[in-house]
Amino acid sequence: MGLSLLFITIILYPALRSAADTYNVVDYGAKADGGTDSGKSFLSAWAAACGTSGPSTINVSSGKYLIGSPVVFSGKDCKSTDITFRIDGTLVASDYRKVGDADYWLKFDSVDGVTISGGILDGQGASLWACKNSRGGCPTGATSLRFTKSSNVAIYGLTSANAKLFHIAIDGSNNVKIRGVKVSAPGGSPNTDGIHVEQSNRVLISSAQIATGDDCISVGQGTSNLWIENVSCGPGHGISIGSLGKQMEEQGVENVTVKTVAFSGTENGVRIKCWARPSHGFVKNVVFQHANMFNVQNPIIIDQNYCPHDQGCPNKASGIKISGITYQDIQGSSATQVAVKFDCSPKHPCTDISLQDIKLTYNNQPAQSSCAYADGSTNGAVNPASCLKQ
Ligand SMILES: *[C@@H]1O[C@H](CO)[C@@H](O)[C@H](O)[C@H]1NC(C)=O
Ligand SMILES: *[C@@H]1O[C@H](CO)[C@@H](O)[C@H](O)[C@H]1NC(C)=O
Ligand SMILES: *[C@@H]1O[C@H](CO)[C@@H](O)[C@H](O)[C@H]1NC(C)=O
Repeated sequence: MGLSLLFITIILYPALRSAADTYNVVDYGAKADGGTDSGKSFLSAWAAACGTSGPSTINVSSGKYLIGSPVVFSGKDCKSTDITFRIDGTLVASDYRKVGDADYWLKFDSVDGVTISGGILDGQGASLWACKNSRGGCPTGATSLRFTKSSNVAIYGLTSANAKLFHIAIDGSNNVKIRGVKVSAPGGSPNTDGIHVEQSNRVLISSAQIATGDDCISVGQGTSNLWIENVSCGPGHGISIGSLGKQMEEQGVENVTVKTVAFSGTENGVRIKCWARPSHGFVKNVVFQHANMFNVQNPIIIDQNYCPHDQGCPNKASGIKISGITYQDIQGSSATQVAVKFDCSPKHPCTDISLQDIKLTYNNQPAQSSCAYADGSTNGAVNPASCLKQ
């Protein structure tokens, strides 16, 4: 008897265990009816998954779930370091007038080992964009999905539509993989960056399709070892390192690779953007490789003279030191005559810029380059001709 019980336990335990470790949000009261606020149910399912040591899955089956208020999934008291949110449904936000001014909608804070797989996030941003586009005094809005102080995160196959502010933001985190994500919002939606990364190390963004009203991907201070590959962008403002250097004390950005990217009708292609203000920050060791431009206003641009409304920029020179930036195999069409623009800081010229195999045209004619305080070299055919100081 004792022996057969032991036998049954050993044989059945794995099966029982894996069934027991799936938490369905509907079992915690969530309703897939689009109208019942399911935020608390999601948090209860999260608490249950967190309390389990070993892998667990939170199951969000198809249908629409209203998450009416900002929600924080905290990892502070988590036993588990392997939780997967399996989402077959759509999570819908409330209108901004109901949410107030929280800066996030769904936040994961201090988590270790969280995967989000599938799902649609519907940020319901339209009324806030209309407010911002018609008058001032509107709230800033909420980022749809934010990870802070987290590690070993994966986001696979998620769709984010119509965020109020940024779609996805990774802040203060380490080892994050974002694969097969889709972002969609209209070209005229203000501040709706697709994916924003800052203060984070080892972030990989691959196979993303991003169409939005601001930067497709934006990179803030303190980012290192960021890899971006197989991304399409447009409409949008391109892939941008910056804005940097608004503050005096900022951590630098280093080791960024942007590879095999396509831009269509965007404001910028690959951009580095800095405030014309004193700062201790830097950008170094960046590679932009294999980019296709179609009708892009500024395919290649470094702008160290960002100073909106010409206000708050004493001396009007950026303190950010930019060095070791490689552009390799960048092709296609510019929507303006100047396809390559290096507008660097008179105090800290850009150094070690490398242009290799560049072929950008304007109206099927040769385009132009423009350089200020920019040093570097070329390799292979470079059109428009380089104006870098050798
Ligand atoms: C997850 O939810 C779906 C839809 O409700 C259901 O068919 C499936 O069995 C669930 N999976 C588990 C492991 O509970
Ligand atoms: C990018 O796409 C190519 C071709 O489909 C594929 O071989 C490569 O693995 C992809 N890169 C990443 C990082 O997913
Ligand atoms: C950046 O890459 C270089 C060369 O691979 C490496 O030595 C350095 O530690 C990296 N920087 C960071 C912050 O990881």
